[in-house]
Amino acid sequence: MQFPIFQVPYLGNGMIIALDAVLHVIISHGLAIGAITLIVISEYLGFKKSSQDWENFAKEFLKFTIIITTSVGAVTGAGIWLITSALAPLGIGSMLRVFFWPWFLEWIVFTGELIIILLYYFTWDKWTAERKRRHIYLGASYVVFALASAFLITGILGFMLTPDGWPWNKSFWSAFFNPSFLPQLLLRIGLAFSLGALFSAAFLLFTRREKDFRKEALRFFGKAALVSFSATVLFTWWYFSVVPSTFKTYAVFSVLTSRFSQQPELFWYANGAGAVLLLLFSLVSMKGPAVLTKLLIIPALLVSMGLVSEFERVREFIRGPYLMPGYMYANQVLLNETPFFSKEGTLKNDFWFNHGPDNQEAMVQGAYLFARNCSACHTIGGINDIVKKVDGRTEDGIFVIIGYTHEMVPFMPPFSGTEAERRTLAGYLYGIAQGTIKLQDPSRLVPAKGGGNHE
Ligand code: HEC
Repeated sequence: MQFPIFQVPYLGNGMIIALDAVLHVIISHGLAIGAITLIVISEYLGFKKSSQDWENFAKEFLKFTIIITTSVGAVTGAGIWLITSALAPLGIGSMLRVFFWPWFLEWIVFTGELIIILLYYFTWDKWTAERKRRHIYLGASYVVFALASAFLITGILGFMLTPDGWPWNKSFWSAFFNPSFLPQLLLRIGLAFSLGALFSAAFLLFTRREKDFRKEALRFFGKAALVSFSATVLFTWWYFSVVPSTFKTYAVFSVLTSRFSQQPELFWYANGAGAVLLLLFSLVSMKGPAVLTKLLIIPALLVSMGLVSEFERVREFIRGPYLMPGYMYANQVLLNETPFFSKEGTLKNDFWFNHGPDNQEAMVQGAYLFARNCSACHTIGGINDIVKKVDGRTEDGIFVIIGYTHEMVPFMPPFSGTEAERRTLAGYLYGIAQGTIKLQDPSRLVPAKGGGNHE
């Protein structure tokens, strides 16, 4: 089964997935895991210390997190399915077939999470006095479910970088419990509590609270942040120690891109400065005046979200030419299909191309070859612009480099197609760089003959 190709103009396919997914990660980790766990702990503190302040804080903050997690959190989660199904249907479809059961379980667990969290909220004022303990257990059971979600999804994410023996033995267990599974799970939990502690501190600082309580609570969240940051750093180090060095080499490049890659020290300065700021924040909230904490909380939140985005960017980028290492390239061509396409041709064997209009024009063929081979990572005129990459080269020069994409930049997959198709793509890229070919109207690449049997 083949699927039509979608290209997101300007932002590019990768960026559109990233924007949705990173927002989802910030909410699912920071609020659904980190903040809600801290809310349950806050409720417990209120119960233990008979403190109405802790109790009120916990309940008010819960209302806020529930609204965000069940709206933006859930929608961005479903959005990942929607976007990847449109942009990388073979990739997500293959992953779903390997990880059917974890995802099936995840669906049950997620439903459970929703039910428990709503029960937790709506029983807050009813389960009081001798039933309070039970209410806290209910909150704790939510935490177990939220962690189970993280467990199930991390196995799948880890697989996409370190599939272990799967490409050869197709064993589900080695795929799921792959080498980066455990360090990544712990890293994500560390991230969740780092973000959670910061969100809690922010809520505390920007709502009206009694002075002494605020001080006490800030001390607690500052400590929680410090422990979580330290754990995250440790687990990040462990995580990158199990990532194969062929991939790891590109970590710094993935963040700096070719624009800044000649100054790798920038990477370390920026991350170092971020770490210092987060450390400073936790120390100030533990010991310093509330005004200073208030000043630092927004920068600290921004930095931590930036670090989360950076981690996801690095993880997604360094697996480079692959969507599923050892099995499928980033442009959804299977590794063992490539020789077939090189010999027999990509266009001739493409259902959608052959059901589109005007496919005899070289321009349309070139645009289609670009879409098929390169559009997973390059746009025309937008992010990672292919025009800038080939600008100044001759048509023959482009023809040569398309044959060496995977050697020139090791995180690019090889071109799949015959030599004649490579020539066609070179002509097309040369044409758009010269301005003799105008940007293809994308609708011309989408089948117009409609309907029919799509097998
Ligand atoms: C898996 C993602 C991916 C795919 C697919 C991909 N590229 Fe790239 N390509 C990149 C990245 C990332 C860079 C480097 C970006 C930068 O400069 O920061 C790059 C750089 C390039 C460069 C500049 C290399 C240099 O060193 O000057 C060219 C030319 C290029 N790509 C052409 C292509 C062509 C043609 C295709 C399709 C046949 C393609 N790429 C497919 C990710 C990809």
